[in-house]
Amino acid sequence: MKAPAFLVRAALMLFITAFCISSAGAQANSPAAPEKSKFDYQELARAPEKARNRRNPLENNTDAPAAGRKLFEKYCAECHGADAAGTGKAPSLRADEVQQATPGALFWLISNGVVRKGMPVWSRLPEPQRWQIVRFLKSLGAPEPAPQPVIN
Ligand code: HEC
Repeated sequence: MKAPAFLVRAALMLFITAFCISSAGAQANSPAAPEKSKFDYQELARAPEKARNRRNPLENNTDAPAAGRKLFEKYCAECHGADAAGTGKAPSLRADEVQQATPGALFWLISNGVVRKGMPVWSRLPEPQRWQIVRFLKSLGAPEPAPQPVIN
């Protein structure tokens, strides 16, 4: 049986309208870099100058990055991922925005959280532990040591 022409036209119109609405919506929601769509790292940029300029008292402590890694696995990995590369719940901490932030800004952010966006406050961790975590985060930006000596 052949569908009446008006039904075919109506169905076509409906299809076109739905397509237009959905593509307009997709355009409005997709920023230039889709992989960063959910998280914008804006909070780090809001660290007050005084906090940003604080030095890490453990800057030269050689044990701090490894201690920070353990704390990270315990408290942070469930949202930020075991390798800190991010999950659906929280952004990557390997991103430039984090790696280029000062240790003081990271310490400030960890201490204050971004509660309204789901990043908890970590002020209950003793300060030295927070600074250890900062050392660990900063170590993620350093190039990986070569696994084998290069033989030419
Ligand atoms: C319950 C999930 C959760 C846990 C646990 C968590 N975070 Fe987050 N974190 C988030 C979310 C969500 C954001 C993004 C906040 C935003 O959009 O501003 C975030 C953002 C961050 C940022 C970047 C700030 C920015 O401007 O987006 C840093 C640095 C960070 N977290 C460090 C940590 C550290 C260190 C720990 C462990 C001590 C930790 N987080 C534990 C959810 C979590």
